[in-house]
Parts: sequence; structure tokens; C-alpha cells
Amino acid sequence: MKKKVLLMGASGSGKTSMRSLIFSNNPASLTTRLGATIDVEQNHVRFLGDLILNLWDCGGQDAFMDSYLTTQRSTIFQHVGVLIYVFDVETNEMHKDLEYYRDCLEGLRQYSPDAAVFLLVHKMDLARDRDATFEKKKKDLQEQSDKVQGPAAIPVTVFGTSIYDESLYRAWSSIVHTLIPNAAVLSKHLTIFAEACSATEVILFERTTFLVIATSSPPSANLEPTRYERTSELIKAFKRSCSRVREEFHALEMELPQFSAVLDELTKNTYILIIVHDPAVETAALRLNVRMARRKFE
Ligand code: GTP
Repeated sequence: MKKKVLLMGASGSGKTSMRSLIFSNNPASLTTRLGATIDVEQNHVRFLGDLILNLWDCGGQDAFMDSYLTTQRSTIFQHVGVLIYVFDVETNEMHKDLEYYRDCLEGLRQYSPDAAVFLLVHKMDLARDRDATFEKKKKDLQEQSDKVQGPAAIPVTVFGTSIYDESLYRAWSSIVHTLIPNAAVLSKHLTIFAEACSATEVILFERTTFLVIATSSPPSANLEPTRYERTSELIKAFKRSCSRVREEFHALEMELPQFSAVLDELTKNTYILIIVHDPAVETAALRLNVRMARRKFE
């Protein structure tokens, strides 16, 4: 199954940077070297075996935008599963950006009326009052979207993101989650697995991006809300360190006085992280459980 994901927005808003961070595991510091995208760059990313993301990174210079909206209109906007539109929070050209955005939304309604729409107010690290700025932008964008769509609107989800913190992972994890056809079933199976392991929580990550695919039902304990994204970032940094010393990353085990954790391959395309607070549970038993559950999740 293939899902077309359109990544659009003004030139310099940060589209290629986020793609490079999420899908090529490059650090944020390297993004300053990226050149402008010429026309559309297409990428295929395999997710969970049979789900393939067909990512269209659409260069945002005016000449390209004009062509997407005219001569290439049907090619660009047909068969779209998700539109991700990126706005630079610091832009001086919001008026123009919004005009293009509205036209893109119209194109989408015309050719892919069922597509989901996600808006990223990006480079939030540059905003002075982050919360207030985000709320204002979110309200504006929602109003603009309603203008195009009328009352029977497709829901538009707005995220504030930055490549310098976990907000970008959170947004992309939510986006990817909506693309997974059996997400609810996965969560149910993870919850059963968590119970079998006496685990506090079980999390399923996609193998190359380490985006969160699904989790067991969240425990009642008061846990850090950014834990998934921070774990993704730490593991990705650790994987990079492994590749620098030419070692391949396979699995991870931690036994601390407060908790233990096992991160292991579950299927060809996923890693599972099990967090246990019960000191009586051995990590070797957890790994055995993972091995036995593999077939069920493939
Ligand atoms: P086109 O390819 O021309 O459409 O542009 P683009 O949207 O792909 O922009 P690109 O990813 O090339 O990013 C432009 C610049 O923004 C780069 O110098 C990035 O380092 C910078 N950038 C990207 N994301 C962020 C962010 O979250 N915060 C800050 N401060 N800078 C960012």
C-alpha cells in the first residue's frame, strides 16, 4: 500500500531540513548546507512492511509553486494521502504564503478530497513568546482553511515545530500514526504484550526514522509527556555514534535501580521498547517475550 505525502510551503521554510532530519537521520546542524529544492524531489520510505510513504518534497520558490498550481495541478494533487504545509514562523511574506496555501487546499479538495491536512508552524525556536505566537498562528491558519473549505471542512491539524527540539518528532509521529491502517489494533496488541511483561509501558518505533508508531495504553502513572520524542532523539544520536565507530546498532538493555528497559527488533521494520518498574522482572525474560511475540506482529 502506497501513501502519497505532499510536503509543501515557501522556499526556506524548512521542508528539506525536516525531511533530512526525520528520514536521513542527519543532525540539525547539517541543514544549513542544504540547497533549495528544484521542482519536486520524490522519496520512498518503507513503513511496517507493506506501507510505503511516497514523499513529495515540493521546492517552494514562486516559479515552482505557480507551476504546481497550474500546469502540474492534477499531477501534484491527485492521489494524495496527506498534505503537510510548512509555514516559517518568522516569515515577512505571510500574505503571499497564505495565498499559495489556499490555492493548494483548493487543488487538494478538487483532486484528493479525502486527504488529511497538517500545518506546521515551523522554526518555533525563533519565536519570542512561543505559546502566544503559536496560538495566534493556529487561529489564523484555521480561519484561512475554513475560508476555502466552507462548513463541511476536512479537519486541519496545526503543530508548532522546530528542528532543534522534540516538537518535530512529535508532529511527524502523529502524522504517520494517521497513515497506519491498523493503528488501533496495534495498540491493543501492545497493551496485551505490556501486561504479559508486567511492563509500565511498551512503545513501537519505526526502524529507520524512530518515529513512534503505536504505544500500549498509557499508564496511569504521571510520566513525562515528551518521553517518546526524547527517546527517539537519544536513540538516533546513539545510532549515529555507533555508525561513527563502524558498529551496527541492534539492541539495548538497561538495568537501573528505578527501572529497566529493553529495546529490541520486533519486526523487520520496527523496534519495541519495554519499560518495567517491577524489580522482579528480568531483562532476559523480556527479550524472550519479544522473541516469542515476533511472529504475531510480522
Ligand atoms: P526550498 O527547497 O527552497 O523549498 O526550501 P526548504 O523549505 O526546503 O528549506 P530548507 O529545508 O532548505 O531550510 C532553509 C533554512 O532553514 C536552512 O538554513 C535550515 O537550517 C533552516 N531551518 C530549518 N528548520 C529550522 C528550524 O526549525 N529552526 C531554525 N532556526 N532554522 C531552521
